[in-house]
Amino acid sequence: MALLELKQITAGYDKNMILRDFSLQVERGQFVSLLGSSGCGKTTTLRLIAGFSQPKAGSVIFDGRDITNVPLHKRNFGFVFQSYALFPHMTVFDNVAFGLKMRKTGREETKRRVLEMLELVDLKGFEKRYPREMSGGQRQRVALARAMVIQPDLMLFDEPLSNLDAKLRVKMRVEIRRIQQELGFTAIYVTHDQEECFAISDQVAIMNQGVIEQMDTPAHIFNAPKTEFIARFVGFENFFDLTRQGGALISAEGKPVAVAADFSGVSGSSFKACIRPEDVKIHPAGEACENAVPGEVLVTTFLGRNVQYNVRTPLGELTVKTEQGTVYSIGSKVQLELSANKIILIDPMTN
Ligand SMILES: Nc1ncnc2c1ncn2[C@@H]1O[C@H](COP(=O)(O)OP(=O)(O)OP(=O)(O)O)[C@@H](O)[C@H]1O
Ligand SMILES: [Mg+2]
Repeated sequence: MALLELKQITAGYDKNMILRDFSLQVERGQFVSLLGSSGCGKTTTLRLIAGFSQPKAGSVIFDGRDITNVPLHKRNFGFVFQSYALFPHMTVFDNVAFGLKMRKTGREETKRRVLEMLELVDLKGFEKRYPREMSGGQRQRVALARAMVIQPDLMLFDEPLSNLDAKLRVKMRVEIRRIQQELGFTAIYVTHDQEECFAISDQVAIMNQGVIEQMDTPAHIFNAPKTEFIARFVGFENFFDLTRQGGALISAEGKPVAVAADFSGVSGSSFKACIRPEDVKIHPAGEACENAVPGEVLVTTFLGRNVQYNVRTPLGELTVKTEQGTVYSIGSKVQLELSANKIILIDPMTN
C-alpha cells in the first residue's frame, strides 16, 4: 500500500482550477520529485499534501487514513522551502528546538535531539549563532535540521536549493539524499531543475499544466520518454514523423528508417520519432553509414569540447552535437547517421 495517495484531486484558486483529476502515489521510504516548468502546479500540489489548503474535490490518503480535512498542525510533516524562514531572533539551537517545544518534549530530550540533528547536518558548534551570522548554505541546513528533528512522517521540499550558488546546490543535494537514506524518511521534492531531481530521486513525476505526464525512475524517463514534452525535457531535440508500411517504418519522403525499438499498429499508423543531438553522427556526403540522411549544414556553433551543427535534411532541420574533429563549414554537404538503437518512438497513444 502506498504511504501517500492523492486521489482524483481537483484544486486551484477561485475559479481557476490548476489540478484536475490529479492522482499520485508515493511508496514508503521513497524520494519522489515533482518536476515541471514554472506555474505547472508543483507548489499547489505540495500545499495540498502539507495541509495549507484543501482540494475542491478528491482526497488525500496517508497511511491508509483520509487526511483531506485534517489541519496542518495535526499532520506530522516537515517542510523546507526556498526561503529558509528561520526565526531571526532565535539562535540556531532554538530554531531547531522549536518543533519539539511545540510538542512539549522534555528539556533533556530536546537538547539531545537538537544536538544530534545539528551534527547530522554538519553544524556542530553553531548552536549559539543567529541566522544572520551564517551563510545561505548553513541557514538552509538549519532549516533542514529544524524540519527533520520532529521525526516527520513525510518531508516536503519546495525548491529548497534555488537560492544557493551552483556549487553549493550540488553539495547540498547530495547531503539531503544522504540524510534521507540514513534516516529513511519518505520525501517529496519539488524542483524545476532536471539534473537536480534526476540526481537524487527514486521516482520523478514530470508535470505539465497540472497533469503528471510521466512518473518513473530517472533512468527510465531518460531512456524511454513517453511524450514529446517529456522527451524535450530530457534532451531530445530532433523530432520527425515516421509511418508504418508493412513491417518497416518510412519517412515522409518514403525512405525506410531502421528503428531498433518494437512498434505496433497497422500499416499506415504514424509515429513520432526522436533522437538526441549527441546521438547523431555526422559524415562527409557520400560516406557509407547506417540510416544515412543527406543534409546541408546551415549553422556551425562552437561549444568548447563540442561543435553543434544545424543541418537541413529531408526529415526537417536536425541538430547534431559532436566532439571536435573535422569541422564542417556552413553550406557543407554531409550525411547524418541516425543509429537505429538511438531512435526513440513516442507512444502514439499518448499524443
Ligand atoms: N494564491 C494564488 N492565487 C491565485 N493563483 C495562484 C496562487 N498561487 C498560484 N497561483 C497560480 O496557480 C498556478 C500554479 O502555481 P504553482 O505555484 O503551483 O506553480 P509552480 O509549479 O510551483 O511554479 P514555480 O516553479 O514557479 O514555483 C499558476 O498559474 C499560478 O499563477
Ligand atoms: Mg512553486
